[in-house]
Amino acid sequence: MRARVNPKTQIPRQRLNFDKGWLFHQGDLEFSTRRFPLTHWRHQYAGVKKPGDHPSRLKRMALEKTNAWKSLPSKKEANLQKSGYSWFKTALPEITGPGRTVHFTSVSDNCTVYLNGVKLQTHERWIDAFDVPLDDAWNKGGPNQLILLVHNPYSGAYIGASELETFPSKPLGPALEWFNDSHWRKVLLPHDFVVEGKFDARGDDYNGYLQPGIGWYRKRFDLPLSDQGLRLWLDFEGIFRNSRVWLNGRFLGRHRSGYTPSRYDISELIRFGETNTLSVRVDARAAEGWWYEGGGIYRHVWLNKADPLHVEPYGVYVVATPHRGRASLTIETNLVNESWKGASYQLTSEIKSPDHRTVLKLSTGGSLAANGNKTIIQKGHFPEPALWSLENPHRYLLVTSLTKEGILVDRTETPFGVRSIRFDADHGFFLNGKRVQLQGTCNHQDHAGLGVALPDRLFTYRLEKLKAMGSNAYRCAHHPHAPELLDACDRLGILVVDENRRLDDSPDVLEQVRTMVLRDRNHPSVILWSICNEEPQQGTLAGRARAEAVKKVISRYDPSRPVTAAVNYAFEGGIRDVIDIEGINYNINQYEDFRKNHPATPLYGSETASTVSTRGVYQTDPAKGYVSAYDVNHTMWSLPAEAAWRPVASRPFLAGAFIWTGFDYRGEPTPYQWPCVNSHFGIMDVCGFPKDNYYYYKSWWGKETVLHLFPHWNWKGREGKEIDVWCHGNCDRVELFLNGDLLGTKEIPKLGHLEWKVKYKPGTLLARGWKNGKIAMESKVETTSEAKSIRLTPYVDSLNAGRGDTTPVTIEILDKKGRLVPTADNLVTFRLSGPAQITGVGNGDPSSHEPDKAKKRRAFNGLCSVFIRAGETPGKIILTALSPGLTPGRLAIKSLNPGS
Ligand code: GAL
Repeated sequence: MRARVNPKTQIPRQRLNFDKGWLFHQGDLEFSTRRFPLTHWRHQYAGVKKPGDHPSRLKRMALEKTNAWKSLPSKKEANLQKSGYSWFKTALPEITGPGRTVHFTSVSDNCTVYLNGVKLQTHERWIDAFDVPLDDAWNKGGPNQLILLVHNPYSGAYIGASELETFPSKPLGPALEWFNDSHWRKVLLPHDFVVEGKFDARGDDYNGYLQPGIGWYRKRFDLPLSDQGLRLWLDFEGIFRNSRVWLNGRFLGRHRSGYTPSRYDISELIRFGETNTLSVRVDARAAEGWWYEGGGIYRHVWLNKADPLHVEPYGVYVVATPHRGRASLTIETNLVNESWKGASYQLTSEIKSPDHRTVLKLSTGGSLAANGNKTIIQKGHFPEPALWSLENPHRYLLVTSLTKEGILVDRTETPFGVRSIRFDADHGFFLNGKRVQLQGTCNHQDHAGLGVALPDRLFTYRLEKLKAMGSNAYRCAHHPHAPELLDACDRLGILVVDENRRLDDSPDVLEQVRTMVLRDRNHPSVILWSICNEEPQQGTLAGRARAEAVKKVISRYDPSRPVTAAVNYAFEGGIRDVIDIEGINYNINQYEDFRKNHPATPLYGSETASTVSTRGVYQTDPAKGYVSAYDVNHTMWSLPAEAAWRPVASRPFLAGAFIWTGFDYRGEPTPYQWPCVNSHFGIMDVCGFPKDNYYYYKSWWGKETVLHLFPHWNWKGREGKEIDVWCHGNCDRVELFLNGDLLGTKEIPKLGHLEWKVKYKPGTLLARGWKNGKIAMESKVETTSEAKSIRLTPYVDSLNAGRGDTTPVTIEILDKKGRLVPTADNLVTFRLSGPAQITGVGNGDPSSHEPDKAKKRRAFNGLCSVFIRAGETPGKIILTALSPGLTPGRLAIKSLNPGS
């Protein structure tokens, strides 16, 4: 019998998108926070060995007034010349809370922060700013002594300018409901305000010389009276970072991580039948990493409505593995009854096949006390499952229904896959019993034009590009990525290493780990939990203790996947004793050495290559910040693409490797600094345009025949001079012709490439690839004439209206014969008509300081991108691209009603 829907609310459950209707103000409004610079630091040198930090000692030190504590010359900074451990202390002023926080701009190298003898936080690395909340250890009425134990093994300890910040106990400014925000700007989420800023040489290289700051968001919304009695909560998928949220002037809470979601129950504070006001303050000043991190509410927001008796958020966990021709399932469901009355329930878990047939139905009845919760475990199986694989990523749907006295009160859907994973120390990784070499890339999450605020379609765009290169695996560097990315990996058949941001056993970090696992554990694509990347504590006992604490949380919520870490120097002791699968960053000699010492531990290259190149550039030019795209440039700790991949491909015991990185990203402009603003590590640039190495990977990772000849053939002024000509491909042999003359034939070595020196003559350089005695493919570069026209190619030509749906459009500058002009840098201006907006532009030039939020962009080596977002109403969108002297390009995109 079909259960009836609750007649009062007409919902079993609703998850409403909350991305629209936000107002935004950049910068803090001074009267909303109060700040006090930390001054008058005093210090005590403690030696080269770590001193004891028992709470009683710390308490004593906090109150000590002896002259063991020496004053420092500078009032605002603390700087010592001696390496080793040093204590620092300063007295904090009496201030009201909540939200007292110390903001450090930099502490060199590592430190532990104590307040009144209570250990609050440890922080490693000197490059990033960080915050330490103080409320937990605050002594009302004072005194409040802040103590830092700073460790610098190489040079003197240093504490940069720091400040104490607090929110007054009563909300003020934009946190107040009746605050006047009429002059604020309307924004649609996802939104990154940092990418809207200007590049500034005084900024930090890891931020790509953009300025992370503070921003406020406000949104008004109404809820009908009929929602009374329901449970309501808000899900923020990602705010970078340090967010505080108020509803109708009441403080809901704070979330520091910029990479994990935050959830606020608003059932008790909401006003039905009236307007409610949400205020969110975002403080992106403190970094969590050393790459561009953006700022703002950069992922989706959802409002959830459910009956008091419901399935807990993240409360469904399904493990489905193939076994002897059947799928074996264990389903764990957490129920909560947030009501004063006990209830009897019936929980049904129904499994729908990829072709929508019901293949299994499990039902469990019981009762739940008032304000109680319960975990229900159901086991079952069904025959002949369609497995989730890379070629056919079949997904099943678990429909969870909950009835109370015959009435359907809750219903959730959980997509999942039936698949088995196994790591083997001798043979690598197995998916469904079949060996799969991990051909992976590490990636950060930003994209040209958009910063970190990616519309859903962009995840698919990026992943399809990686997949087309033959990549089958994605490492979320160095934190959990958006849930929509994981959905796309599930859908496209891409394996994922899901990574926690920092290794720590503080409650905050353990909560981040818990959230990551709960959020992501049903994704068939996720094969490994990575607890950290290159943490300074990787080889120490303290690191080991932290790794144990993190692993305990992972195993509690998902024992079905192994735990790994990305390790770059400590291959014995420390976290090695805790993790199941060893991830080796660089250090290719460790592949053999580690295996000798740990023959039973599976391993893979968690990070390799870090090859640097600039798309379409063939002469390194440090002044411009360009590195040639031949596969020859790398950092001190890394290798060219070919030299990094060969050692992996030739060792079957390795499960594979993850190249640093699939795409360029803002920040970390290695090997240069300003004027460079983005990294050169990508196999593709920030727009997703392939560099030449893309074809190296495609040759040896993919299944298609590949032949790619480079560089371009526009070398005016270099006639008669030798040009290095390279060819990536997987044909047996290649003949090279210049203007029809055969220059020679060469065999492509396995996992290698071909090189020639060719005296430049304008015309056509052609490579002809032979496979099994037949011509398999040709690749040519031609000397083009000057730029003549513009071609526009959208990723998709129809968008969904009203959903922020966005498509990238590729702009190519062509000559009169329609060939890409590979050196063109024409300035292209965009005009748009119809219900849509231009949300960004980009061109992949690592040194471009043109704004990403603009309606024009220079081409870089013939190409640039523009991003078109559909508006609220359906209709025809026309994009025109203009450039002086060129025939304009024109493109029509349909914006449709979703579902039509
Ligand atoms: C690694 C690090 C990455 C990135 C890379 C650049 O050591 O894990 O985040 O910085 O170096 O080569």
